[in-house]
Amino acid sequence: MLNEKVAQLLNQQIIKEFYSAYLYLDFSVFYEAQGLDGFANWYMIQAQEERDHAMLFLKYLQNNGEKVSLDTIDKPDKELTTLMDPLKFGFEHEQYVTSLINDIYAAAYDVKDFRTMQFLDWFVKEQLEEEKNADDMIKKMELFGNDSKGLYSLDSEYAARIYTAPSLVL
Ligand code: FEO
Repeated sequence: MLNEKVAQLLNQQIIKEFYSAYLYLDFSVFYEAQGLDGFANWYMIQAQEERDHAMLFLKYLQNNGEKVSLDTIDKPDKELTTLMDPLKFGFEHEQYVTSLINDIYAAAYDVKDFRTMQFLDWFVKEQLEEEKNADDMIKKMELFGNDSKGLYSLDSEYAARIYTAPSLVL
């Protein structure tokens, strides 16, 4: 059995990760409507990755004999107007997710729950990558996005992204 607070935070994280998936699906829909299939592809794959994250938290709770309690996933509430909007919201959102992972880690640390800390290590690393990717996308858009050739080139780059399953297997 896990500590009650740790288990509760892990359970909440399932819903937060599904919300992330829903948010990125919304970004994908936005770009698709703008005719930017590559950006749409990038966020469609990102949504898949977030679903994977949710399932990892779910499976971890199950493996520890904990009850899983699913809850409402909030509506994506970001107002998307410019091509830059999803990128900026995405970066802010990943910083928020990092803070959530850190909070769970801190709770596990407080009760010497080394197993959960080890499980979360993968997510700590993953968040570094998630934030870096989001920040890189903003920088590239600032550099190349104002020019139609540059935007086309970025869209082609993001069209090439392919889904890979998470390296963490439970
Ligand atoms: Fe599940 Fe984008 O972090």
